[in-house]
Amino acid sequence: MQIVTTKKELQALVQACKASRKTIGLVPTMGALHQGHASLVKRAVADNDICVVSVFVNPTQFNNKEDLAKYPRNIERDAELLSSIGADYVFAPTPEEMYSAEEMNTTFAFDFAGLDQVMEGKMRPGHFNGVVQVVSRLFYLVQPDKAYFGEKDFQQLAIIHHMVERSSMAGTFGNLQIIDCPIVREESGLALSSRNERLSAAEKETALAISKTLFESLKWAKEATATASSAHQNLAHSVAAVRQRVIDAINAVPGLEVEYYEIVDQTTLLPTDTFEHAIGCVTVYCGPVRLIDNIKYE
Ligand code: PAF
Repeated sequence: MQIVTTKKELQALVQACKASRKTIGLVPTMGALHQGHASLVKRAVADNDICVVSVFVNPTQFNNKEDLAKYPRNIERDAELLSSIGADYVFAPTPEEMYSAEEMNTTFAFDFAGLDQVMEGKMRPGHFNGVVQVVSRLFYLVQPDKAYFGEKDFQQLAIIHHMVERSSMAGTFGNLQIIDCPIVREESGLALSSRNERLSAAEKETALAISKTLFESLKWAKEATATASSAHQNLAHSVAAVRQRVIDAINAVPGLEVEYYEIVDQTTLLPTDTFEHAIGCVTVYCGPVRLIDNIKYE
C-alpha cells in the first residue's frame, strides 16, 4: 500500500491505472477509521482492481471550529488498518494541498434542490457545501468507477446521489456508480462512528438508548399502522406520534438530548405522512458529543 500526499502524485497513479484499464474504487473518509469504514474498503477491494482511500479531515464542511479541532486524527493507525484489508493507495493531503486559500474561504455553490434545507443542513449551515466541494474534487482527481459511502450519513448520501445524477447529465463523472453501504453497528446496537472515540465508557453505555429506541420504534410504527388502518384513519397522526415518542424516549435518558428526529421520505428527505419508503433520522447530544443514527421503516 502506498500513501500519497499530493494531487500530482495521485493523478499520475490514476493515469497509470486508467492506461492499463484497471477499475478504481474510491472510499472517501476523514480518517479515525473503524470497522464501518473497513466494511466499505473491503467492498471496494472486492469490486475493483484498485482501491483508493482518501483520509482528509475536510475543514470546509465544519461550521464549528471546535468540532474541527477535536476531530480525532491518527494516520498511522488508519494506514495500518487499510494495509491489512488490502487498500492500494491512501490519499492523505494537507488542506493547503487540497484547496487554494480562496477555495478554503469561499462557500462552494451548489444547487441541492432543497435536500440541504432539512436536518443536518438546517443545523449545520454550509456543511453540505463543504461535503460536495471535497467529494467532487476527489471524484475529479481519482476518476473512480465506483465510490462507497455509508448509510449512517443518509442525508449526505442522498445529496451525493443528487450531485452525481446532475453532473452525469453533463458527463462530468462518466459512469461513476455510488454504492450505498449499510450502517455497521457494535453488537450492542451502537452505530459505529469516529466520534464514538470521544465518548467515555459511561457515555457509550448511555448512548445505547439511541439505537435501542430506534429499533423499538419499528414496532411502534407497525402498531400505529395497524391501528390507523383498522380505524380507517389517516396515518399522518401516527407518524407524528411515533416521531414524538422517539424524541421523548431518548430525552428521558439522563445525559442524552435530541437535537432533531425527523421521519422523512428516503428520496425527497421531506417529512412524510406514511411509513412507506420512510426513514427516521436522529441527532443526539451525548454529553458534548453529537451522534447521528437512522432507521428505515419501509
Ligand atoms: O462522511 C465523511 O466522512 C465525510 O463527510 C466525507 C464524505 C469523507 C467528505 O469529507
